[in-house]
Amino acid sequence: MTKIAAEPLSLLRARTSYKWQTYPADVLPLFVAEMDYPLAEPVQQAIIGRVLASDTGYVAGPDPVAAAFTRYAGRTWDWNPDPGDVRITTDVSVAIVECLRQTVPVDGSVVITPPVYPPFYELPLEAEASVVEVPLLLTGRGWQLDLPAVERAFARGADALLLCNPHNPLGMVHSAETLRALADLSARYGVAVISDEIHAPLTYAPNTFTPYLSVSDNAREFGICVTAASKGWNIAGTKCAVMVASSARTRLQLDSMPAEVSARTSILGLHAAVAAYDDGGPWLAGVLASLTDNRRLLGELLAAELPEVTYHPPSAGYLAWLDFRGLGWGTDPAAVALEQGRVALEPGLKFGRLGAGFARLNFACSPEVLTEAVARLARVRETSAGGDQP
Ligand SMILES: Cc1ncc(COP(=O)(O)O)c(C=O)c1O
Repeated sequence: MTKIAAEPLSLLRARTSYKWQTYPADVLPLFVAEMDYPLAEPVQQAIIGRVLASDTGYVAGPDPVAAAFTRYAGRTWDWNPDPGDVRITTDVSVAIVECLRQTVPVDGSVVITPPVYPPFYELPLEAEASVVEVPLLLTGRGWQLDLPAVERAFARGADALLLCNPHNPLGMVHSAETLRALADLSARYGVAVISDEIHAPLTYAPNTFTPYLSVSDNAREFGICVTAASKGWNIAGTKCAVMVASSARTRLQLDSMPAEVSARTSILGLHAAVAAYDDGGPWLAGVLASLTDNRRLLGELLAAELPEVTYHPPSAGYLAWLDFRGLGWGTDPAAVALEQGRVALEPGLKFGRLGAGFARLNFACSPEVLTEAVARLARVRETSAGGDQP
């Protein structure tokens, strides 16, 4: 297995994506969830091949990616959904909104589990539903779903729960046992579970990712999986996501969506996803090896240079949820990091009230960039030590 090296800053700064266009060149952008690695060659070839064939019309349907995704799920997680139960749309955000439109009545409510991916606060509103927050609990065994509080929310009439598994920003994978307990609650109260599994391909061994629909009949009855190759293979801009049903109820929900939900998927995205799932394994293993190094390096750098910052290495994904409260940088340490350190982090408060004093750092970059970013933050700490806290 060959580790994949991140591209140098000179090449990265020529990218036109959000990560590279939002801040001036003196800022190290470690905020949005894009990776700095070159694309997997099979993915590049798939896109180039379709362009060279002038095959850039409307997508014909889910079949190629349904087959590739289910092959990948079987190989990777021993989960074997029926390819006939897979539908497509542009991206996971749209998949979430469309699934909520099918499962939540107008003015209904959706449970989310902060601190959580900020759009989870917005996507239910697009489906004309409100948000009910059931924060995760920090226990002796790490962060966990607060199942008694979830049950209370279900008993009060919530219509759906939006699950983030693996969880962004904490990088945790929910255990099969927790997922089964959630599925039992969902069945008892007739509540839909929309399981966003977009970070799952980026799970670090020996941790194991459990697909929600694999855990029980109750999960399959009320659950829909929404996912994409876009995080694992860094192809968010190519626009193809999948939605998976596993019961007559959820199949009907997916089939009740307007035809446009599927038709708007990018044909290039579909072929990129097929290549990622079928032929992107070696590249993904190389990226996971590099990320494993960075995940450890970040811990070492913080311990040496910013020991007041708490970091729990994620079980999945390349996002680190950093607790800056020990540094006294206030409720928005990302603002201090940007203004004084020229490092762009994602502000913790965007992930809910529990994010006060936290920031999220994306370590899918070169070790050099990661080292420089922590050095910059450490310099901010030095200049503020002894004087007024920023
Ligand atoms: C948990 C989660 N869901 C969804 C998305 C967005 O996915 P998409 O670009 O397919 O809408 C992200 C992006 O980082 C994410 O972290």
